[in-house]
Amino acid sequence: MSDWNAETYGSRWSEIYDGLPWPGPDQAVDQLAKLAGGGPVLELAIGTGRLAIPLAQRGVEIHGIDSSAEMIEKLRSKEGGADIPVTLGDISSFTTEKKYSLAFLVLNTIYALQSQEAQLSCFASAAAALEPGGTFVVEAFMPDPTRFRRNSWTQVHDIGLDHVLIEADRHDPSTQQILEQHIHLKQGKVELFPAFLRYIWPSEMDLMAKLAGMSLVERCGGWSGEPFNARSGNQVSVYRRDEA
Ligand SMILES: C[S@@+](CC[C@H](N)C(=O)[O-])C[C@H]1O[C@@H](n2cnc3c(N)ncnc32)[C@H](O)[C@@H]1O
Repeated sequence: MSDWNAETYGSRWSEIYDGLPWPGPDQAVDQLAKLAGGGPVLELAIGTGRLAIPLAQRGVEIHGIDSSAEMIEKLRSKEGGADIPVTLGDISSFTTEKKYSLAFLVLNTIYALQSQEAQLSCFASAAAALEPGGTFVVEAFMPDPTRFRRNSWTQVHDIGLDHVLIEADRHDPSTQQILEQHIHLKQGKVELFPAFLRYIWPSEMDLMAKLAGMSLVERCGGWSGEPFNARSGNQVSVYRRDEA
C-alpha cells in the first residue's frame, strides 16, 4: 500500500490503543527484567509504554524509539512516562550513542516493517545498539496462512445492540503481507483502523538475526516459557549478539 508509512499506525490507533484488550504486562516484564541483567535497555517501537513504564518502575534503565509523535505523547502523559528518554525515529534503520545489554521489539511490531529488507535492516540496527553478548528479544504471532480463504479473512470480534467490530484482511502469500481493516460500526458512525504488516517465518527470522551477527538462544511459545511447537500461536525469540 503506497500511502502507508512509519507514522500511519500511531496516527490511526493512538487514541484507542491503551483501551485495547492487550495481555497483561507482568510475565513479559518479569522476563525482560531478568534478561536485562542490570544493564540499560532499549525498546524498539516503545508506543505508549505498556511494558516500558512497569520496567522503569522496577528500576530498569530504559530508553525507547518510536516513529509516532502521538504514541510518544501518550507515553509522556502517563505517570513516570516523561522520565523515559524516547527518540522519534524509524526502527527500520537507526543508530544509538549508547550500547544496551538488552533490546526488545514486541507485539508483532517487527511485522510493521513491510519489506524483508527493512526487517533485515532493523535486526542489523538492533545488533549494533547492543553490547557484545547483548540480548535481542522479538515477540510476534506465528503466521497462519490457513485462516485465509482465497487470501481473504473476515471475523466479527465484538457485537452489541449499537455497535459491531469487524476485521477484514487481505493476504498476499507471495510477499507475506497482510492488509487489515478493523471496522467499528456504531450508531451513525463508521471508524476504520488499518494495519499493514509483513509476517516472518521463524527460520527466516533466525537467518535475519544471523546476518546481523546474532544467534538464537531460545524460542518459547509465550512469555511464561511455554514450549514452542506446531500449535504455538505466538513466539518469543531470544537472540544473543556475537561477542566478536
Ligand atoms: C502495536 S504498537 C506496540 C507498542 C508497544 N511496544 C507495546 O508493547 O505496547 C506498535 C508501535 O510501533 C510503532 N511503529 C510502527 N512502525 C514503526 C517504525 N517503522 N519505526 C518506529 N516505530 C514504529 C507505532 O508507532 C506503535 O507505537
